[in-house]
Parts: sequence; structure tokens; C-alpha cells
Amino acid sequence: MHKHDFTGKNSNFPLISRMIAPCVRHYCPDIRIMSLLTILEFPDPRLRKKAARVKSVDDALRETLDDMVETMYDAEGIGLAATQVDVHKRMLVIDITEDNSNPQIFINPEITVLDPEPLGHEEGCLSVPGYYELVSRPRKVKINALNGNGEAFEQEAEGILAVCIQHEVDHLDGKLFVDYISALKRQRIKSKLEKEHRQHKTAASA
Ligand code: NI
Repeated sequence: MHKHDFTGKNSNFPLISRMIAPCVRHYCPDIRIMSLLTILEFPDPRLRKKAARVKSVDDALRETLDDMVETMYDAEGIGLAATQVDVHKRMLVIDITEDNSNPQIFINPEITVLDPEPLGHEEGCLSVPGYYELVSRPRKVKINALNGNGEAFEQEAEGILAVCIQHEVDHLDGKLFVDYISALKRQRIKSKLEKEHRQHKTAASA
């Protein structure tokens, strides 16, 4: 999800101010150079793949997760699912803080709805850049997942975190927030993004 998603008038949550991209980040204490990953954009069919469960949490997986955190921060996102960077494993990263101080890793996340009462939010997505639409989701959930060390944990979430986790887990199932809006609106967004992609391609090859 995008950091600017919760500034809309439909949001019940405090305004998260537009952030200046952090110029230098040292998220990982290792010397390893972080790589920024390419974020797939709607309507790329790879965003529709269903991710497979992670069988073992090893160094290679942690490197990918580190890169995902870096990529999320670089794109000013508050959440990024592996599917969005063409890695089809059930894992995602989230940081809903304004100063990127609390990166959270969820591997094999399972959601249980604790309060099904719908809560409407204006959502956006790093894979659907520039578009925001109102989506209703259960207001309170519980997440069971593994952390970056492969340890199981359980966490309750409401507000922004609940919305973000549900949005990111949807990605792992090949689902996008635009699937919740009208077919007409979705088609309009699809056409506009396809046009942008064509223009970028033309510009790149010029
Ligand atoms: Ni998204």
C-alpha cells in the first residue's frame, strides 16, 4: 500500500503527512548492498499469481525481505507483498510509521477476522500508482505468521495496520484493491495505466 493512502476524507484515521523520501537509510547492519526491486504494475498478469507457502526461512529469503523493505521505503509505501516484486512466496513487509522506524515481516500470514464490521478506507497500491478508491474491510483482525527468524507470532491489528495487512495478503492470493471497485472504474484505471506503460516503453526505446 502507499503511504499517502490514508489522507483521504473517507479515512477515519489521523492524517499521515506526505513524507519526504528518506535520503539515506541503513536498515540492515550488514555491509551487503541493498537492491531495489522492480514493482510490477496493474494489469501485469504476474500480479494475479497465487503465492506458495514458504517452507524454510533462510538467508536467501531474508535478503529478499531486506530488499523488499528497501523497495517499500524507496517507493514511499507502507506495505509490500512479495508478489508485487515477482517473487511468488507468501511473505510481505509493512511499516506504517511515518519515519520508517518499524519494519515488520510477515511470512505465511494467516488472517482471522476478529470484528467483521466493515471499515471504509481510501486505498492505493504501489502496483496501481496514482489511484485511490474507497474499500471496505473488516475492522479488526488477528494475524498468525512467522517473523524473519522463522519464529511463529500472533498479532492483533485494527485501523491502518488491519487494512494494510488485509490488502497485502490479498496480493499473495493474486488480488488487488481494484477488484473491490466497479468494473467500469477498474477498466478506466487499467486503460490509463496501460497507456502510461506504452508511453514509458516508447520513451525508453527512443
Ligand atoms: Ni498493494
